[in-house]
Amino acid sequence: MRHPILVPLLSLLPSVSALTIPSLQFPLISSSNNNQACPLPAKIHPEDDGLHPALNFVQDPRIRTQQVNRLSRAVQVPTTVSDYVTDPYDEAFAPFLTFHTLLEELFPITHQKSTLTKLNRLALLYTLPGTNPSLKPLLFTAHQDVVPIVNASDWSHPPFAGHFDGTWLWGRGASDCKNVLIGLLSVIEDLLAQDWTPTRTVILAFGFDEESHGFLGAGHIAPYLEEVYGAGGVEFVLDEGGMGEKGSLDLTLTLTTRGGHSSIPPPHTGIGIIAEIIHTLETALPFTPVLDATHPARKKLQCQVAHSPVHVEDWLPAALADTDYAALAERVAASRGEAVRFTLQTSQAADLIHGGVKSNALPETVFALVNYRVALHQTPEEVLERARGLIAPIVEKYDVGLVVVGDDGDEEGEEGEGGFGRLVLSTLAEPLRPAPVSPTHEESAVWMRFAGVTRDVFESVPSLKGKTVVVAGDIMTGNTDTRFYWNLSENIYRWSPSRVGGALNIHTVDERLAIDVHLEAMMLYYDLIRAFDGDHTVEPAHDL
Ligand SMILES: *[C@@H]1O[C@H](CO)[C@@H](O)[C@H](O)[C@H]1NC(C)=O
Ligand SMILES: *[C@@H]1O[C@H](CO)[C@@H](O)[C@H](O)[C@H]1NC(C)=O
Repeated sequence: MRHPILVPLLSLLPSVSALTIPSLQFPLISSSNNNQACPLPAKIHPEDDGLHPALNFVQDPRIRTQQVNRLSRAVQVPTTVSDYVTDPYDEAFAPFLTFHTLLEELFPITHQKSTLTKLNRLALLYTLPGTNPSLKPLLFTAHQDVVPIVNASDWSHPPFAGHFDGTWLWGRGASDCKNVLIGLLSVIEDLLAQDWTPTRTVILAFGFDEESHGFLGAGHIAPYLEEVYGAGGVEFVLDEGGMGEKGSLDLTLTLTTRGGHSSIPPPHTGIGIIAEIIHTLETALPFTPVLDATHPARKKLQCQVAHSPVHVEDWLPAALADTDYAALAERVAASRGEAVRFTLQTSQAADLIHGGVKSNALPETVFALVNYRVALHQTPEEVLERARGLIAPIVEKYDVGLVVVGDDGDEEGEEGEGGFGRLVLSTLAEPLRPAPVSPTHEESAVWMRFAGVTRDVFESVPSLKGKTVVVAGDIMTGNTDTRFYWNLSENIYRWSPSRVGGALNIHTVDERLAIDVHLEAMMLYYDLIRAFDGDHTVEPAHDL
């Protein structure tokens, strides 16, 4: 996951926990539940299928030890990717072949009984064909790659040692997201070891460049699956991550100006002009947060008000009724901090700059990149237009021509050449619009079953025993591979199931995962597969 914020499971009250998942709404009123704003979905428990209960994963010490070993060995293979890989045969991908061999060794039954399709050399697609092909398959996804290490000596334990300290499994990829990959394969291995045969096809899909842009892995998996199963041909997609997704846009600025000896400089060099542009982008027309009627975070807040009233701001219940969505959003953002602000507001960060080659030479080329994560109420086009509008008067002032390169690579700026130089505005990759909102109302059978299983599983785990689990949607500040899977299902959930504090330091030093949290996630995968495989019993919903 890129630049994630993970708050999937919030313990709000001794007796209440909120499970925040990527559904973008919440099941509507159920008749037996008088909590109108945030009804609890009926718990769903897999039918008595003769398989061992999901609780085994957290109760059997042999499974715990086995998971420590498997995850540790997975972390030990340094499957890092850089931002600029384009060829799966590049030498930099060699560790992925080692990783594949490791998976064959760790999961022999899965490799014997499933069909493994390799796409674009390194993407892995495991298919367990169901006996009833009329049922849409379940698609579980994760990625094999991890982000690079800046300086291994900053780590408490070497990043590729897979060190386990009795509670935490340390290392790059431990929580983003070899845990998901190993957890999914382990659950399948376990089911197959019990001679389980799926009724409904189950697919595991693992890309290998999610931390780059995903084009090589998921970009090849998605069209293949659409070809085989058709558009909308998948029951649901469950990926890593934390909830719904914003859009994204990398704006690049390349300024070329007249060079020369720096002893006879113009009043502003290319560096000065780029500096003024970035300063203007950061100070003029600030982005504002919006929490409108359809924003997924609204339902989460309503659920907190309904189920944890003493733990929310005392103004929140009344504020949620207000239709000034910008004022409400600003109040929530100011109260809850930056991580929440950027679920409601477009972010802007100047992340790269370089220019100049020598102390006595004027810079002829200056390059900058500004990264945007586009909030649900905006589009990448609006964000680009804003930047262009702010930049145009600056370049005009310095007699610099402005050229805008469209998605198709064509130059469209008629402002053209200026006497002093030329600024080219472009984007690094095709901008991504915010993800479609997954329908999660009461009429969505898929959502109701997903939420019901989630509640059933997490209310049964020992660490949450006696608490009521509330399942609600939200939005994350980054993106995952799911951008490629939009055509396959409207029910796309981005959620590495974990409790707050159970998966730490994703993308930075000392990444680590609490093994108990990992085992709880496996419980959910296991029961989701079982509950979607056959009939299921529905317990009546109850009130708090
Ligand atoms: C890595 O960190 C160590 C300890 O802080 C430091 O001594 C070393 O110079 C760093 N190496 C690099 C390449 O930055
Ligand atoms: C989704 O379907 C549309 C329409 O058929 C197609 O243009 C697009 O390329 C597909 N997207 C992906 C990611 O495959």
